[in-house]
Amino acid sequence: TQHAERQRVLDALRLSREQLLEVKRRMGEEINRGLAKESHDQATVKMLPTYVRSTPDGTEHGDFLALDLGGTNFRVLLVRVRGGKRRSVEMHNKIYAIPQEAMQGTGEELFDHIVHCIADFLEYMGMKGASLPLGFTFSFPCHQNKLDQGILLKWTKGFKATGCEGEDVVSLLKDAIHRREEFDLDVVAVVNDTVGTMMTCGYEDPLCEVGLIVGTGTNACYMEEMQNVELVEGDEGRMCVNMEWGAFGDHGELDDFSTEFDRAVDDCANNPGKQRYEKMISGMYLGEIVRNILLEFTAKGLLFRGKLSERLKTRGIFETKFLSQIESDRLALRQVRSILQHLGLTSSTCDDSILVKEVCSVVARRAAQLCGAGLAAVVDKIRQNRNLSELKITVGVDGTLYKLHPHFSSIMHETVRDLAPQCEVTFLQSEDGSGKGAALITAVACRIRDAGQ
Ligand code: BG6
Ligand code: GLC
Repeated sequence: TQHAERQRVLDALRLSREQLLEVKRRMGEEINRGLAKESHDQATVKMLPTYVRSTPDGTEHGDFLALDLGGTNFRVLLVRVRGGKRRSVEMHNKIYAIPQEAMQGTGEELFDHIVHCIADFLEYMGMKGASLPLGFTFSFPCHQNKLDQGILLKWTKGFKATGCEGEDVVSLLKDAIHRREEFDLDVVAVVNDTVGTMMTCGYEDPLCEVGLIVGTGTNACYMEEMQNVELVEGDEGRMCVNMEWGAFGDHGELDDFSTEFDRAVDDCANNPGKQRYEKMISGMYLGEIVRNILLEFTAKGLLFRGKLSERLKTRGIFETKFLSQIESDRLALRQVRSILQHLGLTSSTCDDSILVKEVCSVVARRAAQLCGAGLAAVVDKIRQNRNLSELKITVGVDGTLYKLHPHFSSIMHETVRDLAPQCEVTFLQSEDGSGKGAALITAVACRIRDAGQ
């Protein structure tokens, strides 16, 4: 029957508990591979050292600029941090668009645009000519030898500006500032958004030692023991490691769980074969998975009366927003239909609406469970590092999918609880973005630098 045929397709996207445990186990393996010097080069999960050695302690102080590039919005921020008894953080920020041309043109164009936005912001704040220390949240994989350097390994998500991979983004930014000859800036720290988020949340909760992003892309960071961070000299204390877990699966680790729809999405992306885990989880790709499933159903005559519209063939029509709307519990089916109509999928029936909603729900559930399985590996790793039978830990989280989707967070939490039962995990949603965390990191670095002078 038609029903059985639909379910057969969807069953490939339903993961069993055993499969999720296997994902957790493989993620654990990749974590160790990425940390160890001799296997690092073969690892998909790069476990990049960040040179951030502690979470906030409340003594951070000063005025800082922050840039936040790599998510839905590009922001320039002024962050005023007051330490001590009446500690507080005051933030002013402005959001700027990154035009498609800047994302996909030359690196010079991209960084010139960024510097143009900084100049506009300084003017807007009445701070023209000020030269504050700056923390740069740059949400892409970077190799760091120190805090104020970040060699871009590879663009991810929609970015592909030329001449940036293999380059230090701090130099690219400074060169652009010098080209403009209007002001100078003291770039103190390059920070991944996961790290910024961990620090933002760590300011409120000292147990926060993990940062998680589920937005346009997905990634995590956590405080690892220095003795396990083999790429950096020294065995004392801890260092935050940017996992770049989005690349998990790039050597086939997820092949037995992925489907023809995942392969179709991967083939059409601008980085085929890369970021396979991210492509099964994050906002930039879930809508495309859904669209590919709907294409298949339509081709088989199970949906939209078998009529393949041009609209449905168009890449990118299902944004994260749509996935969240369609799964909203308060939504009547009639409204699902009107959302479909809004997308230009006009010939839908009531049955079509039910099926589309089911597809969205299966795809989002799988994403949340895969993400939870990865996170279970991380918290269990931390627990084992500390030789504990029980670990209490907080995960700071940000990202539009996590925040806007009606079920993603609860399914993910439930999965972590199930797969890492010896860890008591609290999830703290970041409301302040990662710019605040970048400023806190900058504050600590400035204090240490000034003390050394
Ligand atoms: C924001 C952070 O709050 O969340 C960004 O400040 C980050 O740096 C972003 O990239 C992730 O979410 P999204 O959904 O915009 O990709
Ligand atoms: C991508 C980037 C990573 C970032 C994540 C979330 O995976 O490579 O650096 O943290 O997206 O924005």
